[in-house]
Amino acid sequence: MTIRCAKIIGTGGYLPETVRTNEEISQRVDTSDSWIVERTGIKTRRIAGAEETASSMAEIAAKQAIEMAGIEAGEIDLIIIATGTPDRVYPSTACLLQQRLGIQNCVSFDIQAACSGSIFALSIADQYIKSGAADKVLIVGSEICSRLVDWTDRGTCILFGDGAGAVLLDSTNEPGILSTHIHSDGAFEDLLYCPNPQVSAKNNDERGVIKMKGNEVFKVAVNTLGRIVDETLAANGLDKSDVDWLVPHQANIRIIAATARKLKMSMDQVVLTLENQGNTSSASVLLALNEALRDQRIKRGQIILLEAFGAGFTWGSALIKY
Ligand code: ACO
Repeated sequence: MTIRCAKIIGTGGYLPETVRTNEEISQRVDTSDSWIVERTGIKTRRIAGAEETASSMAEIAAKQAIEMAGIEAGEIDLIIIATGTPDRVYPSTACLLQQRLGIQNCVSFDIQAACSGSIFALSIADQYIKSGAADKVLIVGSEICSRLVDWTDRGTCILFGDGAGAVLLDSTNEPGILSTHIHSDGAFEDLLYCPNPQVSAKNNDERGVIKMKGNEVFKVAVNTLGRIVDETLAANGLDKSDVDWLVPHQANIRIIAATARKLKMSMDQVVLTLENQGNTSSASVLLALNEALRDQRIKRGQIILLEAFGAGFTWGSALIKY
């Protein structure tokens, strides 16, 4: 029997034009460039324009991935968008993207796993491809976090940015996605959440902005991501030294450095975009992957570990032979 595997054939990324610096944020809340850089590693982030939406940003990233893959959009069997900032409650942002790409015959749906959305989408795509239910799958993480941020809360407004990242996968008989590992634990709602006041019955006096107990989230994230490194390597019978690249969720340089230490990796083997993008939630891993594939830092045959942690809590990893 031939083994089916999912292989990366294209990637794309989009960042809005407007740059918001730490200095600008320091004029709104009691913080400073040096505090933000030291505690997070972030210097600037991008802010979507008034006319931009998750689907408009996704379209640009998706078209880049399609072009890189050298396929027609109509060949795509499945579109999965990970977003916490959908254009509409429904239709899904994936259906809106399908329409923007002019595809009539494919399946499109959104998933919501906060900052782990890219890994959850990769995991679902991998199952569809392995089972033979789909060949070509487009995954996009697209987020306008700036519209969910409370710009008076210095604990959160320094962190987030907007953007979209895309990956196109195809079925192959060679190794590609080696394994994915996704987890959730709903017990941590109070540490990180964003109310939906228009819909929620119980919290309808709350504003629809991100609320986070950053320090507590930080500690759980470091421990959890350490554990998922072990789980991923064990599942593949690999050693830390077998991993060539870490492509982490870009939440905080200190969280990323802790995962790199766990892998005994130098920071030169870590793809970092957070300095000028901040945390773009479900887009961040895909944006980082796009950057490192396009500038050819990551080469064919190398082993890449992708990981993310987000609200829920949700967390996950994907080990890929590129
Ligand atoms: N500028 C200056 N001081 C600040 C700022 C700021 N922007 N933010 C907080 N402080 C203060 C606090 O008020 C506190 O002051 P106090 O000691 O007088 O009470 C002090 O700095 C320390 O606060 P901590 O919260 O302990 O700071 P910490 O070092 O943990 O950094 C941060 C905060 C950057 C938010 C960090 O905790 C973090 O990155 N957390 C993880 C975020 C994350 O990974 N989220 C998951 C993904 S997001 C998603 O899924 C949507």
